[in-house]
Amino acid sequence: MTRKKPVLTIDGASGTGKGVVGQLVATRLGWNLLDSGALYRVLALAAQKHGVALENEPALEVLAEHLDVQFKVIETGVPPHILLEGQDVTETIRTEKMGNAASKVGTLPAVRTALLSRQRAFREPPGLVTDGRDMGTVVFPDAEIKIFLTASAKERARRRYNQLKEKGIDVNLDDLVGELLERDKRDQERAVAPLRPAVDAIRIDTDTLTIEQVVERIMSEVRKIFSSIH
Ligand code: DC
Repeated sequence: MTRKKPVLTIDGASGTGKGVVGQLVATRLGWNLLDSGALYRVLALAAQKHGVALENEPALEVLAEHLDVQFKVIETGVPPHILLEGQDVTETIRTEKMGNAASKVGTLPAVRTALLSRQRAFREPPGLVTDGRDMGTVVFPDAEIKIFLTASAKERARRRYNQLKEKGIDVNLDDLVGELLERDKRDQERAVAPLRPAVDAIRIDTDTLTIEQVVERIMSEVRKIFSSIH
């Protein structure tokens, strides 16, 4: 069942490790990578830049349709630099505030529709690894392999806490758990494309696994389906 443009989707809540795991799997396979969350984050930043309210669906739809975003690969194996209107926003979009704003714009059906074809355009040979919330359910329902990562809220908050500490950013662990649960609730309960596993997704609970172990689990699924890949 090998096709010219196979897709491997990795969905899950924030802090399940899907971003880093997706990057590593894409590098191992030599496939293209789409971090769909980055698109929602860039859109939220564009809204802020142009003074558009996060609830203004018609204006956000127009902004999404014309979003001038570029994913610039600088080095293989390293996340691409992300440019909004030519300006490097790689770091700016990674804050908790932007994650929350992205989650808010992600509740709007017109925004999701406007971003669909842009996401599907990443499906190019030799293949695509993509991570997000609805990659396996809505954007690439015919993906060859669908992974759904889970982890407890406590473990996800702890990972985020360590990441922020490393960057020298002081945060409170309980606040992080609260914010995370609020974002989960919004992402899971929205009317369109809510965060949930596709019926044919393989679930991996990452609580007690290292990143390398998660990558290895996914690679073993890839090997089962694509016997030519080692
Ligand atoms: O994966 P992330 O933390 O960068 O995503 C930020 C937010 O963007 C997430 O809370 C909800 C939204 N999002 C979405 O609605 N659909 C996606 N496929 C990816 C992200």
